[in-house]
Amino acid sequence: MSSDARKPLISGNWKMHLNHFEAIQLVQKLNYLVTKEDFDAVDVSLHPPFTDIRSVQTLIEADELRFLLGAQHCHFEEKGAFTGEVAPSMLAKLSVKYVIVGHSERREIFGETDEMVANKTTSILKAAMTPIVCVGETLEEREAGSTESKVIGQVRSALAKRAPDTVSKLVIAYEPIWAIGTGRTATAADAQAVCGAIRGEVRASHGNEAARALRIQYGGSVKAGNIAELMAQPDIDGALVGGASLDPDEFARIVKYRLHAA
Ligand code: PGA
Repeated sequence: MSSDARKPLISGNWKMHLNHFEAIQLVQKLNYLVTKEDFDAVDVSLHPPFTDIRSVQTLIEADELRFLLGAQHCHFEEKGAFTGEVAPSMLAKLSVKYVIVGHSERREIFGETDEMVANKTTSILKAAMTPIVCVGETLEEREAGSTESKVIGQVRSALAKRAPDTVSKLVIAYEPIWAIGTGRTATAADAQAVCGAIRGEVRASHGNEAARALRIQYGGSVKAGNIAELMAQPDIDGALVGGASLDPDEFARIVKYRLHAA
């Protein structure tokens, strides 16, 4: 089990799904299913597309819901000639708390580099939001035995030159690329091995306190049926959920993983 100091964080990454009407419906349905006890036990962040964020924010604030608002992406500059991009401060103004950075789809389809991920992480922190920094290996890298070197390299790049008390506020999401949207999940033992290696790296680079406080999520085909076993691992403190977060019943069961323990 994750240490008491680290409240689990379950995040729903809606990707490019749901317009703002559909988004509101999903949040309302979820709110019927997730109880006060659930929110006391687990932080739940929702990451809609940009066009839905204002509507979801309004609903959360009007009805005093305990869902935490998230975004899927942002630019690292504060303003300027960056057609189509959104600045971190624009998200902060909408009460966004968590921003996903360096998702493998952004890295692979939109060419985001480790350097861009590091810059975004800095800008998100500066805007007083929490970055969820995604790392993970391809199937070829896994088969070649280079999972750890790939993942640790990405972690080092995102954390370099940051103070330990900054690192302790971060979330890292370990998402093996071959497990995203494929229905294939890393075994709990494999996921734990990589998440444990990430925490070990942070301990070596930023000290015990930072390593103890940092939250590490697993992502990649997380479902109600596999979440409990993943969450039972000592270095897994939450989940980044894609497909299953679009189904309110399934996502609520994921949030309630502690009630159907492995
Ligand atoms: P998935 O996506 O749960 O659909 O595999 C996870 C993610 O991309 O964050």
